[in-house]
Amino acid sequence: MFGCISDGEPLASRFLIQVYNSKCGGWLSLEQIHWFPGHMAKARREIAETLRRVDAVLELLDARLPHASANPMLRAMMGNKPRVVVLTRTDLADPEQTKLWVRKFEADGAQVVTVDAKSGTGTNRIVPALEVSAAPLREREARRGIRPRPLRTMVVGIPNVGKSTVINRLAGRSAAKTGDRPGITQSQQWIRLGTVELLDTPGVLWPKLDDEAGAYALAMSGAIKSNVLDPAAVCAYFVLWAAQHYPDAIPDRYGVTLPQLPAWSNQAEAWQAAEPVLEQIGRQRGILASGGVPDTERTAEIVLRELQTGKLGRMTFEWCHA
Ligand code: G4P
Repeated sequence: MFGCISDGEPLASRFLIQVYNSKCGGWLSLEQIHWFPGHMAKARREIAETLRRVDAVLELLDARLPHASANPMLRAMMGNKPRVVVLTRTDLADPEQTKLWVRKFEADGAQVVTVDAKSGTGTNRIVPALEVSAAPLREREARRGIRPRPLRTMVVGIPNVGKSTVINRLAGRSAAKTGDRPGITQSQQWIRLGTVELLDTPGVLWPKLDDEAGAYALAMSGAIKSNVLDPAAVCAYFVLWAAQHYPDAIPDRYGVTLPQLPAWSNQAEAWQAAEPVLEQIGRQRGILASGGVPDTERTAEIVLRELQTGKLGRMTFEWCHA
């Protein structure tokens, strides 16, 4: 189950959200469940170091959670270098919401490209967007008599956001290797893409972990792995969240009717409200434990997997209220 404690301290220094993990039977702070917390300072140094060698940044965000999949420190680290925001997984996100998010990023002055990196849709707009974002830099350099040179660019984003997929798409081959360890580890090479030179090794950053809704959005998207978080807890949250935001999604997929779901203020109440829905789904799908009772844990895992692969429809977990 999820719970949340917050003493209002800034995100970067502490992670305050706690998650109940039924496998170990205890509360974990996001610091503990974070991918590689001990490496954050090192990752930050490595990325800051590499940023010094590049002219521009491709910031990859998950279109389903553009806020929580961002790293709060990146903007400060990159100064005013040209930046293009690439929203990945638009094939899984709610198209109406994606439009609103694009408008919001554009209103903030960013160049935005929406892609389905898996199929490659939209990736051909990345290099032109980089050129647009670099126009002021190019003009400044031209005024100083500097001959045009390739715009050195690096890809940055949280684990699993699609960095290697994007790099490989742009490179037209299997070039990028990336782990889910923050930082930059492998040897680096430049990939020439016309007027742009792309670093073949992306920078891996950690996501925004400063609020409960963001943590849930990350968990629902699959960015926080289900072997770390309790899928039943994440799924309970999803059921309640979906009833409010996409009320047809669960009934349409599983042929169940959602009861009037009550307001809830803690994880026990959330589970209490969502459990009958998971029982219904388990029964419909024949996901039963011994004795023929619905296996809600296994049902929760299946629902989450289906959610993360788009089988419940295209959804955005963080709504933009532009
Ligand atoms: P990373 O380097 O940022 O860690 O992420 P990576 O490119 O390895 O992508 C992680 C997973 O997300 C991959 O799936 C990849 O195919 C998928 N992915 C990336 N971008 C998109 C997108 O825009 N839409 C969709 N639907 N999926 C995307 P995988 O299952 O781990 O690998 P694979 O079986 O697809 O190769």
